[in-house]
Amino acid sequence: MSQLKLEPFRYPVSFAPFPATPLVTPTNAKRRILWTRYADRLLLNPELTRALVSFQANKSMPYYRWLKYKEGFSVDFVRYILGRFKPEHAAIRVLDPFAGAGTTLTAAAGSGCQATGIELLPVGTAAIRARLAADRVDIDGFEKWLVRLRRFQFEPLKTKPYRFPHLRITERAFPPDTARAISAYQRFLGRIDDEEIRSLFWFACMGCLEDVSYTRKDGQYLRWDSRSGKSMGSGFNKGPMPDFKQAILGRLEAMLHDIRHRNGGRLSRRVHIVEGSCLGELPRLKKQSFDLVITSPPYCNRYDYTRTYALELAFLGYDEAAVAALRQSLLSATVENKAKRENLRDQYCRLQRHEFYGRAVANFDCAEGLHEVLGLLYAARNRGELNNNNIPVMVENYFFEMNIVIHELARVLTPGGHMVMVNDNVQYHGEEIPLDLILSDFAAAAGLSVDAIWVLPRGKGNSSQQMGAHGRNEIRKCVYVWGKPRMT
Ligand SMILES: C[S@@+](CC[C@H](N)C(=O)[O-])C[C@H]1O[C@@H](n2cnc3c(N)ncnc32)[C@H](O)[C@@H]1O
Repeated sequence: MSQLKLEPFRYPVSFAPFPATPLVTPTNAKRRILWTRYADRLLLNPELTRALVSFQANKSMPYYRWLKYKEGFSVDFVRYILGRFKPEHAAIRVLDPFAGAGTTLTAAAGSGCQATGIELLPVGTAAIRARLAADRVDIDGFEKWLVRLRRFQFEPLKTKPYRFPHLRITERAFPPDTARAISAYQRFLGRIDDEEIRSLFWFACMGCLEDVSYTRKDGQYLRWDSRSGKSMGSGFNKGPMPDFKQAILGRLEAMLHDIRHRNGGRLSRRVHIVEGSCLGELPRLKKQSFDLVITSPPYCNRYDYTRTYALELAFLGYDEAAVAALRQSLLSATVENKAKRENLRDQYCRLQRHEFYGRAVANFDCAEGLHEVLGLLYAARNRGELNNNNIPVMVENYFFEMNIVIHELARVLTPGGHMVMVNDNVQYHGEEIPLDLILSDFAAAAGLSVDAIWVLPRGKGNSSQQMGAHGRNEIRKCVYVWGKPRMT
């Protein structure tokens, strides 16, 4: 157990209560009870801008600019949270169970913490590993290979050239010259004898696939430029595209610049990465082994990471079956996900943790606010009113899995520790799903205190489809602050 005395939650006295009151409708009585329960914890936090809780501020930041991981939050956000919860000069243990490209891990390690991250998407773990490799790589060797690359003829081999291992949805992603140059670059990679340098040069290629392709990761979707012949009439044009040589050299030069200013080679010793699903990995962690959790799970918004990162997954060698398996293992947030309930039950049975699992499921079963909205969504599905019939199942599975994650996190948190989570509320069929309140209620059921739900000054508009049918309704974007009471 930690010997550390953690600071009590520094309550932001200046933060005003969130001004809205919930709409009173005949169908939201249970959600209003939840609102009443947590209304005094909903605080408007003017210090939390959207830029801070998104990747935006990382875009030009050394190391983080190597791969645009748009689902990430910023280094400054992690520092902001550490500033409130990390006692000065203390090497606390930080966990991020949805580590993404590892912002929490390297930002916390940079502030002297020990950081552990669990992440399932290999694109994210590759980004973390590349950032850590900067600690060890031979900088002069890196520069030497960069000089050679500048002179390299980007022509693929005549016999047995590398062919980009496309998935169905990535076919025709590159102009022919770019495809040839990527192929030639693989030949160049084969010549690099230093494994660390080769892996960074390989990662640079993955990092610029989007730039040199006809695709753009845009909000929810992977958009296709009309020049690809695949844009389905949208007429989208992403503007001038760099050729591959220009893009890869630019990326490697930026990497060299960042590596030269590396953090004295200390980050990698403080970061531990686990590649896997947090649903399977959290149960392996010892109880009370972390002082602070900083995380942002996938949102319950149908966003499909395997689609957005299809080019990178193809590059990593994922075929159709592997992509489908990966999608299913991710937290259920797409309409394609099937329930993981039975697998989870079997897992906890094998671990002989029936009691823990039974308690978590019971807390899920009596979440009245959630079941109120699920009932409405299932009824709308039965009347054929949803644009996708799997939405209620997706929402149910999302909460079922998040509830297990929250119970596990409550277990691994040390008394006096805190958990900070970024998430968005969502709305389906005009029904608000107050994730902030429902998840906070799960946290309370798991033994945590709901210290604050910081609301960002600007929420999110509902989708245009929903707006047409149900009117404009700004949806809260929040940062939840939960604490684990000290033992008395
Ligand atoms: C909102 S992103 C987190 C981004 C991260 N905060 C950053 O700054 O890079 C959510 C992440 O959860 C990951 N994820 C989804 N399901 C998971 C699971 N079952 N186990 C671990 N990670 C998962 C996704 O791949 C994604 O990278």
